[in-house]
Amino acid sequence: MELNSKEYTEALEAVKKFKIVQNEDAKTSAQLAEVTEGTNSFGTVFADYMAHIKFKANPTDDTHLGLDEIGGSWSGHEVVPFGNISISPAAAVLHYGQEVFEGAKAYKRADGSIWLFRPELNATRLNASASRLALPSLPVEDFLGSLIAVVKQCNQWVPDDRSKSLYIRPFLIASEPFLGMRAAHEVDYYCILSPVASYLKATKPVGIWVSKDYYRSAPGGTGAAKTGGNYAASLKPAELAYSKGFSQVLYLDAANKENVEELGGMSFFAVYSDGHVETPSLNGQILDSITRRSVVELLKDNGIQIDETTIGITKLVEDIKSGKVVEAFACGTAAVVFPIGRLASDDFNVQIGNPDVTGEVTMSIYKQILGIQMGTVPDTHNWCFKVM
Ligand code: PLP
Ligand code: COI
Repeated sequence: MELNSKEYTEALEAVKKFKIVQNEDAKTSAQLAEVTEGTNSFGTVFADYMAHIKFKANPTDDTHLGLDEIGGSWSGHEVVPFGNISISPAAAVLHYGQEVFEGAKAYKRADGSIWLFRPELNATRLNASASRLALPSLPVEDFLGSLIAVVKQCNQWVPDDRSKSLYIRPFLIASEPFLGMRAAHEVDYYCILSPVASYLKATKPVGIWVSKDYYRSAPGGTGAAKTGGNYAASLKPAELAYSKGFSQVLYLDAANKENVEELGGMSFFAVYSDGHVETPSLNGQILDSITRRSVVELLKDNGIQIDETTIGITKLVEDIKSGKVVEAFACGTAAVVFPIGRLASDDFNVQIGNPDVTGEVTMSIYKQILGIQMGTVPDTHNWCFKVM
């Protein structure tokens, strides 16, 4: 879904609902320049403001009814100083992990304008994730309105440096103090911002550990939802991979323990010597990644055959060994596009292409995506959304 003019107008209308509460401790321009340009890490510094909206279900005595039947409403749209939030120690999110989140970025172009990349896909995915976690859906215009309102308020926080951007982290948490097992009737939506450099500190293709002990998702599970539990479960396998000298973990499907799915926070692509590219199909267990979708469309634009298919790890390793796979890369909002130079697990350790050089297709896709986001490559699909 691309944003049509009606949705665009509704989003701009929704911006007006957000009451702005001034931050008396907001950074001065000088402090800000130091923070945004000095940041070389991911997600450690936060902008002066955050957006907030509150959901309350309609009062009911029948606690077995689903939220869809009970109904409820979002209110209290505000942009407030970034700061600690107060929730009850009994809030459902702290016990049962009922939460979902999104990841987007605001980009500053050479002319000073600020843009979002396909934010309507974040809106629909937030609601798809929310549905799986029995959280209420947030109207698309309120989601987009919150991004526009808070990014505008924090426009000075978008780094000038074209290799950096302002990461946007919208999220929904079940804040109702309730220890019984049912969907929470009180939910808070926040959107926080963080000036970021690249997610991975690599200067050349990275090594990836293929986990055969841990799985991130199962049929009928929550793998396709962007929910904290998936990421919490990936921390231990990631630590084990780091201790072996690898940068990230690639997960296989839990049912067959064979098919490549995705990395803990990125999608996977393999480039073949005959020119075609493969990526795992959306099987209901992996995230419908916005970067993945965009890469698929760009490859098609480039006349490159892209197969969204089942990729068995056994065949993939054989194809790497025989030289049929010449490049592999991972992609995502935080990571953009980065090359994979090695895949290893308990029973294989294979090098892909030249370990010191980013492959041609990977480099070309990286440049196209970043170029579209930064306005230096024509946005023929109308993916970019101007905030100001
Ligand atoms: N896969 C997972 C598990 C992720 O967490 C992410 C990051 O958001 C991605 C893939 C890439 O998705 P997107 O391109 O929408 O950021
Ligand atoms: C993103 O790319 O937006 C993500 O959420 C990935 C996360 C691991 C930082």
